[in-house]
Amino acid sequence: MPDRIIEEFTVGKDRELDLRLARYDVQGSMAHIKMLQSIGLLSKEELDMLLPALEDIAESIERGEFVIEDGVEDVHSQVEFLLTARLGDVGKKIHSGRSRNDQVLVDLKLFFRDELRNIATATERLFKRLQTLSEQHKDKLMPGYTHLQVAMPSSFGLWFGAYAEALTDDMQLLIAAFNIANQNPLGSAAGYGSSFPLDREMTTQLLGFANPHYNVVAAQMSRGKTERAVAAAIGAIASTLGHFAMDVCMWMCSNFGFIKFPDELTTGSSIMPHKKNPDVFEIMRGKCNRLQSLPNELAILTANLPLGYNRDLQLMKDIVFPASTELIDCLDTADFMLQHIEVKDGILDDERYDYIFTVEDVNRLVLEGVPFRDAYRQVGMAVQNGTYKPSRKVAHTHLGSIGNPANNLIAEKMDKLMKGFRL
Ligand code: ARG
Repeated sequence: MPDRIIEEFTVGKDRELDLRLARYDVQGSMAHIKMLQSIGLLSKEELDMLLPALEDIAESIERGEFVIEDGVEDVHSQVEFLLTARLGDVGKKIHSGRSRNDQVLVDLKLFFRDELRNIATATERLFKRLQTLSEQHKDKLMPGYTHLQVAMPSSFGLWFGAYAEALTDDMQLLIAAFNIANQNPLGSAAGYGSSFPLDREMTTQLLGFANPHYNVVAAQMSRGKTERAVAAAIGAIASTLGHFAMDVCMWMCSNFGFIKFPDELTTGSSIMPHKKNPDVFEIMRGKCNRLQSLPNELAILTANLPLGYNRDLQLMKDIVFPASTELIDCLDTADFMLQHIEVKDGILDDERYDYIFTVEDVNRLVLEGVPFRDAYRQVGMAVQNGTYKPSRKVAHTHLGSIGNPANNLIAEKMDKLMKGFRL
């Protein structure tokens, strides 16, 4: 009975979360046993028995049939248990020169590599959607605000395009996390290496890692550092998307009324029959805000841990795995919603935005030869006397402005970045 209590407490959510690591665990084991055979710790015959058995396990994982049974602690033990049940003693040989500590490390690195690419794909999809919308609504003006006060003309081209470009910065962090994940910890064993002459270059090559985490202690230390890099990237994207969700809620507010979604994509109220609420973007904002606490959660979980493996590290899976799924869900939902966004035209024709054109009119006077300070005063006086009549002409042409949002250059920037995820 006490055994059961201890097991349940320490295993926690591993039986469920480790399922996401299963295919990588098999991949890591295949590389490990090929290497063991190359250094004489397994015979060719043994390897030929083990590889097809691992292949079968891999297939059962892809079919969704693989489970981590009650009484089995984690994915690593389950795979070995299946091999031993099928092959007897040969199955017990595969663990030479490794520990579950480097096994879980290698699983996580392979998993994060794929997961970061999934996040990058979803981010790029949203990026493209934003760019398309930016081009489509390039000429539709909207108010630009500073201090939440009406400031200068902006456009939907700039608004959509800005979030697209912001995602390119987030992509830099995703690539940084990818590069950190793309290093081979296998061979660090419990965290201090092994007295077997392990060929770590060979497993690095077999698993397609850019290089080994050379120092075995550094390899073990990368548990935590990798997750933190992933969390920083997730947090960055969440910050961009959360900010965008806030804008959407605001521009949908009936006092603004700049954008709309079809009724079926909004939510009603149980008491007010007229309501068309932006619940999707509110939930997105809340989820994205919460995702931004990820680096903090990890920092607090791992603060001042002693060097080497500590079981606390297991709990990082509970934090990072669902977070990454949630981020992808938010990105996909944003992409879905934006396919249906309706943008209002002629917003700035309303006289409440008259003063938004003051800078345009000051600048026009400057172009006619009036010194800037005098032009500023002239328009300022007209505003004060109530005689200001806006010209409503907007002529921004420089790089990155309303007339030239540079979407093609931003797209090139993103294309270049996406190449960083190639193995
Ligand atoms: N479930 C464990 C983890 O995620 C696997 C490694 C177990 N190692 C150990 N020494 N108990 O960390």
